Amino acid sequence: MIIVKREEEIKKMREAGRITALILREVAEMVKPGVSAYELNEHAERRLAELKAAPAFKNYPHPSGGKKYPASLCVSVNEEVVHGIPTKDKLLREGDIVSLDFGAFKNGYYGDSALTVGIEPLSSRKKQLIKTTEEALYQGIKKAVAGARLGDISHAIQTYVERRGFSVVRDFAGHGIGTHLHEEPQVPNFGIPGRGPLLEERMTIAIEPMVNMGNWRVRVKTDGWTVVTVDGLPSAHFEHTVVIRDGEAEILTVVD
Ligand code: MF3
Ligand code: CO
Repeated sequence: MIIVKREEEIKKMREAGRITALILREVAEMVKPGVSAYELNEHAERRLAELKAAPAFKNYPHPSGGKKYPASLCVSVNEEVVHGIPTKDKLLREGDIVSLDFGAFKNGYYGDSALTVGIEPLSSRKKQLIKTTEEALYQGIKKAVAGARLGDISHAIQTYVERRGFSVVRDFAGHGIGTHLHEEPQVPNFGIPGRGPLLEERMTIAIEPMVNMGNWRVRVKTDGWTVVTVDGLPSAHFEHTVVIRDGEAEILTVVD
């Protein structure tokens, strides 16, 4: 069942979304050669404490049971797609593309957002990959309106990406979000227009295209979390938490 929120709940989600966006922006600005992923996570955790919010990802149980996610920020570099662990030895370098995925929990509600930044000098293909993934997210958000179907979002993302010669990851998807980080429905980045559940005003979903430069195949590394491309080519990721509205979606993971 897809939960339709009340406006008073959406107000709380706006606050969770604002904190998520603020901290994500701060860590994105820290991305420089020589900085470790560990430092980015440390900053995010310090800021969460200052803003009296909790991490959305820390200790999140792995979907296949068992292991819990060990950090508050996911840092996925180059061929890493999502869920990269921010270790001390993960040092950022020139030419890297760095996907940052972050979520905050505040007053009972979650925010979830991601972005990818490149460290200059960057190949033009990597720049194109980042730009295409970000724009694919906005193409999806454009379809996130009352009266549309979930497949309209998925299809818009897929066609935008594939027309530019890139591919969408199939094994991971966006999701409903609210009092839980992951709620129904799953929001795949590929699909058929006019199919799937009807979108209603005040449903809240996280849309998150993961886009590969090569083919869509991915695998999980032996750390149990880090998703990488099978072909070793880079991948980018952008995500916003949004509210379905009449006419135009409201993006929650923004700073005022
Ligand atoms: N945005 C990601 C997701 O929705 C982040 C999850 S990291 C995890 O799946 F550790 F919480 F799984
Ligand atoms: Co998400």
